[in-house]
Amino acid sequence: MAQATRIDGKAKAAELSAAITAESAKLLKEHGLIPGLAVVIIGDDPASQVYVRNKKRTAEACGFYSVQHSLPADVTEADLLQLIDDLNRDIAVHGILVQLPLPGHLDEQRITQSISPTKDVDGFHYINIGKLTASKTDDAFVPCTPAGCMLMIQDQLGRDLSGKSAVVIGRSNIVGKPMASLLLAANATVTITHSRTKDLPAVCRGADIVVAAVGRANMVKGNWIKPGAVIIDVGINRIEVGGDSKSKLTGDVDYDEALQVASALTPVPGGVGPMTIVMLMSNTLRAAKLAAGIR
Ligand code: GUN
Repeated sequence: MAQATRIDGKAKAAELSAAITAESAKLLKEHGLIPGLAVVIIGDDPASQVYVRNKKRTAEACGFYSVQHSLPADVTEADLLQLIDDLNRDIAVHGILVQLPLPGHLDEQRITQSISPTKDVDGFHYINIGKLTASKTDDAFVPCTPAGCMLMIQDQLGRDLSGKSAVVIGRSNIVGKPMASLLLAANATVTITHSRTKDLPAVCRGADIVVAAVGRANMVKGNWIKPGAVIIDVGINRIEVGGDSKSKLTGDVDYDEALQVASALTPVPGGVGPMTIVMLMSNTLRAAKLAAGIR
């Protein structure tokens, strides 16, 4: 069989980003509206710093108003809730994102649920989760990573996934569960698997679509994959290479093995990551338009 197609998330994200930039310019010209994104980061986790910097840079490249609030790791919950309340009221801000994970003394649910559902561009508010689960996404925000994965899957297989079997590995609120909801809404037959699943390789071998989001480097092997399947790798794992503390990023899927079996798969880096950021811009643009009553 021919080698699988490498799904170029970076190129697709650049295309989408160009379209968002054009629409943002049009909003400014026709309505005097500038989409605004506020990103809140707490503490100094290096990986989170990189993600937040990329989000800010992309927002600015799209012509958005972008503001970052960097708070110390020991910020009180009351101070953080006060900042979110201020941002909820700020009419220049259409989207609010609090970068996760949070330091242990902060209650993640209390924080994410304090963001107005109309500014919840992460799609973590229960209102938005509920709308997604009920397939009512007209005015809801869908979490960025699964939304980006879905676009790449539908590029390969078409919008309607009737008759396709999909396996999601991982049951997180950020990726696994919303991913399953999106696949189901597109008529796929969906299985969510996790650390307690029995014989995961056999379950995967039945899947036309595999979305791996577990955080274990190279876990999904070539012999787990049905010939011709579409494989989406959400993992970002830093692994040591060689001796002198050099490291590289790798996904949850053994890329070289999967390439020999799948019909298409995403690389790490350059697959899901860039798509996640551009979906955040898409959600922010949408939030701005909804706030201004523009269709
Ligand atoms: N940390 C890792 N992924 C995400 C995400 O999608 N949103 C937020 N807010 N934090 C994250």
